[in-house]
Amino acid sequence: MIERIAALRAELDNITASDKNAVEELRIKYLGKKGLIPALMADFRNVPAESKKEVGRAVNELKEYAQSRISELKESFDSQDNEVSADLDLTRTATPTPCGTRHPLSLVRNEILEIFGSMGFTIAEGPEIEDDWHVFESLNFPPDHPARDMQDTFFIDRENADVLLRTHTSSVQTRTMEHSQPPIRIVCPGRVYRNEAISARAHCFFHQVEGLYIDKNVSFADLEQVLLGFARRMFGPDTRIRLRPSYFPFTEPSAEMDISCHICGGKGCALCKGTGWVEILGCGMVDPNVLRNCGIDPEVYSGYAFGMGVERIANLKYKVKDLRLFSENDVRFLNEFISAH
Ligand code: PHE
Repeated sequence: MIERIAALRAELDNITASDKNAVEELRIKYLGKKGLIPALMADFRNVPAESKKEVGRAVNELKEYAQSRISELKESFDSQDNEVSADLDLTRTATPTPCGTRHPLSLVRNEILEIFGSMGFTIAEGPEIEDDWHVFESLNFPPDHPARDMQDTFFIDRENADVLLRTHTSSVQTRTMEHSQPPIRIVCPGRVYRNEAISARAHCFFHQVEGLYIDKNVSFADLEQVLLGFARRMFGPDTRIRLRPSYFPFTEPSAEMDISCHICGGKGCALCKGTGWVEILGCGMVDPNVLRNCGIDPEVYSGYAFGMGVERIANLKYKVKDLRLFSENDVRFLNEFISAH
């Protein structure tokens, strides 16, 4: 036994390894479960009682020696790794990590929401897949009413005309009115869908922010002031607005709002087609039928609503001529908005 121990010790004196895997093989050979040293320990029970003390100590020393030799070898490779990394030039300039930018539509939407947020409007959101009641019927579009053609609708289910993609976020206004009582002061941002051929000026989806304010004694003059405040913050303090009579089934009276052209200041240019004005949104006083449909008493409350296309505002603000750029995600276009943060 003592000779076997001495022989193994001599072997261990001379072990070498070419890489980390070889060290691991050596560890298994000497110290692994079926290795030479555990085998030696298994034979320990055959050692005569009078030599057990001496042999036991020698076996333990051998085991410790093997462990230290193997960790020595292992460490020599670890320190080699460190030497490799010491070759790295830590003073070299780092490769820049490309930094994403906010999408221009998000920038504009956030700005719109921030302006109305500062006037006390809170954000309300709702589903993009809707039913007829929330998109049309509750908003005073009776079945077969020609006004439904104003917003060409995508129906999702061939058999069920009650499952559709919302054509405006007015559906979120209905949902909010259905489960809360005035005062209600919300802005509803979101994506909407209309079945239109894709071109520079139209797309089958776009984004809106609509607003709703319902309370006692809300007047058209309130609406006008809020919209004037918005236009000035969005397009500059000299911006003027004008309201032209229009028609929406859910508002009465209804209007479309123009702002003085911020490119030519109203003198007339290509953007405003020589008129000095550009249209930016639709608005009006909420029709009493809509309030009634949503469980709000029109004898007690009145309110206004407005709705705008985020793409339209972004076009005007950033002079983007082709709507399609907003959904193609060409990074050369998107990178132009890095400084707009
Ligand atoms: N919902 C209208 C649209 O999508 C916009 C609008 C909202 C008009 C509120 C008036 C009042 O065209």
